Amino acid sequence: MDLFDTLPLPSDAVPEPLAPGAVLLHGFARREDAVLLHALEAVLAEAPLCHMQTPGGHTMTVATTSCGSLGWVSDRHGYRYAARNPQSGQPWPAMPLCFGELAQRAALEAGYANFQPEACLINQYLPGAKLSLHQDRDEKDLTAPIVSVSLGLPAVFQFGGLQRSERPRRYRLAHGDVVVWGGPSRLAFHGVLPLADGDHALLGRRRINLTFRRAG
Ligand code: SIN
Ligand code: FE2
Repeated sequence: MDLFDTLPLPSDAVPEPLAPGAVLLHGFARREDAVLLHALEAVLAEAPLCHMQTPGGHTMTVATTSCGSLGWVSDRHGYRYAARNPQSGQPWPAMPLCFGELAQRAALEAGYANFQPEACLINQYLPGAKLSLHQDRDEKDLTAPIVSVSLGLPAVFQFGGLQRSERPRRYRLAHGDVVVWGGPSRLAFHGVLPLADGDHALLGRRRINLTFRRAG
């Protein structure tokens, strides 16, 4: 069990600034974790996680799926948002109300009013899985922030600058933490170091990350 999960709910926790326009909201989603995980189960039953190919021909160590009117897709041709799940040919599952509502509240807390994401990318990390340093730049609307919700095992999140060469800082993201980045940080490089093994009380040996995007 993660020691952080035994601490009181940090409802009064002070947002931790990461960079101009970027904050870490410690424990912001903790109190609603059961509702989120219940909704997540239904989404995963309809659109199972899979390991997508990268344009460079690698298989991602992170397993992904999406919900909302658009989903994030990667294959040999590149990264993009698509209205249908390439695995099934079907539209992505609707975004659960509790997802969209959490994303909007977190964005507001970070200073971004009226955030209405139409895409939620779901990433699953098993021990060892990682996400190399990258920018989220496939979205058409770069005026909207990215809202990222961490559930399950803690991860080391790297958050850097607008140049890949800028050395990223490292932050520990625990169950229920939410990171929001937008404005001058919207195109900041970020990534996740290989997930350390562990056993989370609700999620077992995995971490789930939800990222909400205004994609279209
Ligand atoms: C992402 O960059 O899409 C996910 C970040 C994370 O898993 O924390
Ligand atoms: Fe990203």
